[in-house]
Amino acid sequence: MGPKKKMMSIELKSEIVEKHEQGVRVIDLARMYGCSTSMICSELKQELIKGTTPARGVTIISKLRTSLHEKMEKLLIVWVTEKQLQGGTLTQSIMWEKARAIYVMDLRGKSVFLTGGARGLGRGIVEELLSLGAKVLFCDVNVEQGRVTEVELQKQYGADVVFFQEADVSDEEQHKAAFAAAVSKLGVVDICVNNAGISDENSWEKVLEVNTGAYIRGSLLALKHMRRDLGGCGGVIINVASLLGLMPMATSPVYAASKHAVVGFTTSWAMSPDQKEHGVRWCCLCPGIFNSELLQETLNSNRVYHVQDVQQYLQDHGVMPVSQVAQAVIKLIQDPDNNGAILEVSLAKGARYRRRQIVDRDGVSDLVVVDTY
Ligand SMILES: NC(=O)c1ccc[n+]([C@@H]2O[C@H](COP(=O)([O-])OP(=O)(O)OC[C@H]3O[C@@H](n4cnc5c(N)ncnc54)[C@H](O)[C@@H]3O)[C@@H](O)[C@H]2O)c1
Repeated sequence: MGPKKKMMSIELKSEIVEKHEQGVRVIDLARMYGCSTSMICSELKQELIKGTTPARGVTIISKLRTSLHEKMEKLLIVWVTEKQLQGGTLTQSIMWEKARAIYVMDLRGKSVFLTGGARGLGRGIVEELLSLGAKVLFCDVNVEQGRVTEVELQKQYGADVVFFQEADVSDEEQHKAAFAAAVSKLGVVDICVNNAGISDENSWEKVLEVNTGAYIRGSLLALKHMRRDLGGCGGVIINVASLLGLMPMATSPVYAASKHAVVGFTTSWAMSPDQKEHGVRWCCLCPGIFNSELLQETLNSNRVYHVQDVQQYLQDHGVMPVSQVAQAVIKLIQDPDNNGAILEVSLAKGARYRRRQIVDRDGVSDLVVVDTY
């Protein structure tokens, strides 16, 4: 046991704060009251937290202000003041870095519903979320693998933070039941990740049901649950699309169509004039090829055209590990200001936001989409 912490009376605390306001330095206060400078700093910090006016001296970063944002702004002011008390150097970029660190969405205790979490990217995202303190209910059509994953993750992170629910998301009733199970187990869903996907050019109806239909249903279920104007708590909807949601590919026309639809749907909802009232952020992830069983199965069973071309591409360019893509999903979730974001992830360039503008170039022609990075 370390030495017992000295307690200070309220009178003494206010005397210290008053003297500090009159200009007495922290080091002199420490000498005067026979305690350490860090103890004086922590007393001054407590008073500062009580007296801080939200947004004082801090730019309001988000339009979606919540009490959480105000608490974060207070923390930033306290940190800046502490640094000044210690005589530390503060540049704009240091403050900006700290603001971001404080400001990113804290995932501790956040509740997540994710589809297709038994393996591959879904499992990778679940693991990242759990390691950051979130609770997750994931569903999957693969019951055997789903149970194995649930047991493994419960062993590592705890039996009360991760749950598996059997569901085929192409079936409306099963999908709705899985979402309801998440609400009942976790109390609320703050983050919804639509991830379950397939690739099979021989079965276009199924691909559209899973990759597009279930994403639309899952997003609308989440929106209804999260909408602040309907009594919900707000939240984030992440739709895992693909680079093939942004570009054509001769090997996979149906898959590309299913993912283009996801990007169009997600970014259109993000533009809703009611988005602020809803308090729901919409984002999509567009990864290049990463190493998963989906990729292996697709190539091995001729579910794409021109398999050799894909194999040659993989040989020339390599594939990403699942962890790189899962971390990009966390980036998307945590950034509070990225409503409508399209985050590309590739082996060569890492995770990059694609900035999409819809412009009328000469004021009289049709609108066009301009993408930049
Ligand atoms: N692997 C890649 O190179 C790649 C590239 C870009 C985008 N994506 C997308 O990433 C997502 C994850 O892919 P992955 O590579 O991890 O695939 P994966 O096959 O390894 O994992 C997908 C999971 O979804 C589940 N699933 C499939 N259909 C389902 C259904 N109807 N209901 C419930 N669960 C279902 C599967 O059982 C599996 O556990 C998919 O949406 C995929 O299209 C993959």
